[in-house]
Amino acid sequence: MDYGRNYVQNLLNGFMGTAVIYAACELGIFDLIKDEPKSVKTISNILDAKEEEIIRIIRPLQQYMLVSEKDGKIGLEEMGRFLSKDAENSLKEYALFCGRESVKAWHLLYPAIKEKTTPQKLINDLGLFDEMEQDENRFATFDGMMSSVSKNIELNTFFDEFRKKTDEFQIVDVGGGTGTIICKFLSYYKNANGVIVDLSQAESAAKENIQNNGLSDRLRFQEASFFEKLNIHADVYVLSRILHDWEDKEASMILDNVANDMNEDSRLIVIEDVIKKAEEKNALKGYMCDIQMWVFCNGRERTIAEFEKLFLKSGLVLEKAMELPDGTFSLIVKKAYEELIL
Ligand SMILES: C[S@@+](CC[C@H](N)C(=O)[O-])C[C@H]1O[C@@H](n2cnc3c(N)ncnc32)[C@H](O)[C@@H]1O
Repeated sequence: MDYGRNYVQNLLNGFMGTAVIYAACELGIFDLIKDEPKSVKTISNILDAKEEEIIRIIRPLQQYMLVSEKDGKIGLEEMGRFLSKDAENSLKEYALFCGRESVKAWHLLYPAIKEKTTPQKLINDLGLFDEMEQDENRFATFDGMMSSVSKNIELNTFFDEFRKKTDEFQIVDVGGGTGTIICKFLSYYKNANGVIVDLSQAESAAKENIQNNGLSDRLRFQEASFFEKLNIHADVYVLSRILHDWEDKEASMILDNVANDMNEDSRLIVIEDVIKKAEEKNALKGYMCDIQMWVFCNGRERTIAEFEKLFLKSGLVLEKAMELPDGTFSLIVKKAYEELIL
């Protein structure tokens, strides 16, 4: 009985954990103690904060096993490293997006359902991407979160399966953002060339990323909207976490524009979370991502069957679905034969 009540109460208190971790990330506490443990007094002085409040933040972080105290100094625990800026697979940018954006929008779930609208529309009538185009700081927060999620996707098992014969091909990453995913393709397929297609907001960070990855000779950025004809012919098209941002009507427009440039030999790789049956492993992740997409973009996560229906509408057919180690799916899609097209 008590266990059940405590369980529900802990679920309800989830927002407190997010707030504490977000505040510690925004303050830079994990970065501050990453290399050298420090006393609360030193941390407070550096942050120009009251010692009492830093103690308040640090106590739950200790309980979460993110930091620990030894000889009067606070140091990082192994899991706390994920919240420092420079860690491999850092979640700091993700935490900042949770605190700066997600918490506010998710809080509007109830009024949005009652008013038959979406949380993002209650905040601002512009869509998320139009809103971000006017505010580069917000795009930077979004891009930081997106890159941290994309960096963590393990694509090597997929790459091993795909295109074994030659790696001399052209890749277009449609809505590729700053290029985290296409850089993975190009570092695996050493003779491939690529183009990132995205809106102007992504351009400068994408160019910087291309340079930092030493890919200036094989990868370029092209400003274009995927709602217009692309006219870029390639062997491989990538749509990574794009379709889930949109309702079926818009998703079909994007797929039409990609399909228009594809030939029989080209393949489209769709990287997305997939809605699974409740009894399947990791089903909750897809359900929560589905709400996240609705909250921000009036989008949705889809079942494999829903993807197949969408592909067929654009004259495409699912060739293979592969679950990646982190539970994300990679869908290989090709042109459909005439008789399959709806
Ligand atoms: C969820 S992010 C995915 C980024 C990247 N594909 C990845 O997986 O890391 C969506 C991307 O779509 C881009 N985008 C939004 N509307 C677009 C449009 N009309 N044309 C091209 N790109 C667009 C955004 O700028 C953003 O980079």
